[in-house]
Amino acid sequence: MASTDAVVRSRRFVAGSAGGGLLLLLSGCAGGGPSTLDPAGFGARRVEGFWWLLFWISVVVFVEVMALLVWALVFRRRPDRRVNRSEPTRFVVVAGAGLPIVVLLTVYGIGLRDLAALSTPEVPPAVTVEVTGHKWWWEVRYAGVDGATANEIQIPVGEPVLVRLRTVDVLHSFWVPQLMPKTDLIAGKVRETWLHAERPGEYRGQCAEYCGLQHAHMAFLVVARPRAEFDAWLARLGAPARTPDSDAERRGQQAFLGSACVACHTVRGTAATGTVGPDLSTVGARWSLGAGAVSNDGGHLGGWIANSQTVKPGNAMPPQPVDAAALPDLIAYLQSLR
Ligand code: CUA
Repeated sequence: MASTDAVVRSRRFVAGSAGGGLLLLLSGCAGGGPSTLDPAGFGARRVEGFWWLLFWISVVVFVEVMALLVWALVFRRRPDRRVNRSEPTRFVVVAGAGLPIVVLLTVYGIGLRDLAALSTPEVPPAVTVEVTGHKWWWEVRYAGVDGATANEIQIPVGEPVLVRLRTVDVLHSFWVPQLMPKTDLIAGKVRETWLHAERPGEYRGQCAEYCGLQHAHMAFLVVARPRAEFDAWLARLGAPARTPDSDAERRGQQAFLGSACVACHTVRGTAATGTVGPDLSTVGARWSLGAGAVSNDGGHLGGWIANSQTVKPGNAMPPQPVDAAALPDLIAYLQSLR
């Protein structure tokens, strides 16, 4: 009786484990996040092709090994069967050494071909973006344009864009799963990669190298738009920041320029010319605050100004002694910067 119970228990355990494993696998399918298997650009398409090649090779090898295992188990049960001694040795050399060498060399060759194709676009890039990694945000500048934004890269759709990557502190890694493979940012070096989006849209990017406490909140957005819209956006980036329209915005600007904010932040066309933190000239139009930490709305902006350490602990911005009465004006002013 006890042994029957044990069998039932072990069967339940196997069934439960298999079910749990399957659920885990399927949960990966329902993620809906950015995936290299949903490519929208040349680089990710290459990576996707290589991924499927490795997947199918793994499937074939797995099935083969399992078949051999079953065969060996069945074979072992017939010890009386006569065996030709030289045959197993030849089999081990061919299947155990020869075949893996051929498969691995083929995959290596295809990998080198893809690396070469990924390193240089087919046509010279029309736009160059200078991206600098900071703990924990991305500074984004465009060659020939005297302005900057943060955690957001706009590109013209259908055109290759050169991205030059630097870091001012630790290792980071630039990755837009739907557009391109990871490229590491290495101190003292300028790494180059390029972006290409086949269709307009927003593509989530993420730092893919663990870089400290807020590594997870080092996200960015690549926005691909038609050329005319991109040109207009770039012209806006290079122009002075919008001047205040309302009384609240004007009071907010006075509060901003009279605060310690100006030591670290730039608002183009004003006395604020700090370069430690992100350029705020178009902060009101950005998709998030704190590189994906929270959405960019009035409530979160107020919380961020008062004490960003409660929103994104460890970031470089110290808590600000802001007069509570001035906070709504400050929010109104920063939100008007678009
Ligand atoms: Cu930067 Cu992780």
